[in-house]
Amino acid sequence: MNHFLSLADIDSSELRAILDEAHRMKAARHLPNGQSLPKGQPDADAPFTGHTLALIFEKSSTRTRFSFDMAMRQLGGTSITATSNDMQLGRGETVEDTAKVLSRFVDGIMLRANSHDTLTALARNATVPVINGLTDYNHPCQIMADLQTLEERGGQLSDMTLTWVGDGNNVAVSFINAAAKFGYHLRISTPEGYAVADQTVEAARQAGAKITLITDPLTACENTDVVIADTFVSMGDTDAEARLSDLMSHQVNDALMTAAAKNTIFLHCLPAHRGEEVTAAVIDGKQSAVWDEAENRLHAQKAVVKWCLC
Ligand code: CP
Ligand code: NVA
Repeated sequence: MNHFLSLADIDSSELRAILDEAHRMKAARHLPNGQSLPKGQPDADAPFTGHTLALIFEKSSTRTRFSFDMAMRQLGGTSITATSNDMQLGRGETVEDTAKVLSRFVDGIMLRANSHDTLTALARNATVPVINGLTDYNHPCQIMADLQTLEERGGQLSDMTLTWVGDGNNVAVSFINAAAKFGYHLRISTPEGYAVADQTVEAARQAGAKITLITDPLTACENTDVVIADTFVSMGDTDAEARLSDLMSHQVNDALMTAAAKNTIFLHCLPAHRGEEVTAAVIDGKQSAVWDEAENRLHAQKAVVKWCLC
């Protein structure tokens, strides 16, 4: 069974095929007259008519929630969304029992979990595919959309340098996992105390990832093809004040984008906090690809769902 839990667990050839399918499915919705299918209209082949995906959230979401729901509609199927507080899961029913019960009702389960352990327990006990919609550890669906965005702007991933600036968080982990699969060079610039765990970096290096750790963000951004930021305070972080002060040295601003290059692409998974991890001038400027990046959550996840349910 194909669970989509971590990019580290999936062969590079399979991830490549998922990304190719995401490009194909996106293009297929454009009509010869220059228009696109209405967003809620199923794809011409509607491959998952009659299929249902459960969307379960232990924490907030805008993009993941709407993009998975629309993905299922476009694939010909449906989704059922619930927060854990709507479910007995929020009152102490175990995730193991939840997995067994939901597997009798639906064809797949997407979970956004506080703890990565909850996700893996769900997958171990489900008899249908499980998709990771973000945990405290990683966010693999986001990175598939991000890589789709870079490729559609003409990038050959294996020739590119991507630079992560800020907190070594869950999104950074998935960029590290994907570096071993897609062959880009990844620079990571985090202040002291905010690095990604050594074992995650080492495991990726063992798997072939080219990763350079650079404390100084200006040096890290020199001649890079892509600069990536994310919030300084992730969902579940309880030390917001300390983070905002410790991480301000790693704000993405004009100085960093100038050190990069005129055609360097700026990515951010959103939600953004202008004036914190990124300035308004950068995220709302010409080099920003964040709206395409957000849209591609839909297309990339359609391909992920297809890989899981086929
Ligand atoms: N990028 C992302 O996962 O956004 P949401 O938290 O809105 O789903
Ligand atoms: N790192 C952020 C990503 C949000 C999509 C968080 O976990 O809150």
